[in-house]
Amino acid sequence: MAGTITFTMIKPDAVADGHSGKIIDQIIGAGFKIKALKLTQLSKERAEEFYAIHKERGFFGELIAFMTEGPIVAAVLEKDNAVEDFRKLIGATNPANAEEGTIRKRFALNIERNAIHGSDSDENAQIEANFHFSGVERF
Ligand code: GTP
Ligand code: MG
Repeated sequence: MAGTITFTMIKPDAVADGHSGKIIDQIIGAGFKIKALKLTQLSKERAEEFYAIHKERGFFGELIAFMTEGPIVAAVLEKDNAVEDFRKLIGATNPANAEEGTIRKRFALNIERNAIHGSDSDENAQIEANFHFSGVERF
């Protein structure tokens, strides 16, 4: 039976450091199915739209500069309880607080350069998946 979906981006820090393959392997090993996948790069305008919820935050400019500095790996993932289970797999926003074995504990550098994104609700997972992928790119 099909589960629910979540959306993820392996962020520019982790892609540049060559961690994409290890991260995708951990995601698949945790029971997620890949429903869409690509290497792409966010423009300033698209990054500002994706992170619009944070536009009043003091770190917004730095966050946009970081997220546009190089390619990302974007993916749609499917599993039962995908959003919550994926947030557990990636760990806390600040890797200093992330549990041992989580993707952020393994690969994140600091609270900003934290290796990976995960949707925070089923509704946002759908919005974010549609933001990054056209119908013919989704399986
Ligand atoms: P995402 O999955 O990327 O949405 O992360 P999150 O849901 O764990 O955190 P949140 O949505 O609150 O923040 C979005 C992103 O902004 C984080 O993943 C970080 O890259 C960055 N960020 C969050 N808090 C800070 C901060 O205090 N300082 C800086 N420089 N960046 C931050
Ligand atoms: Mg978030």
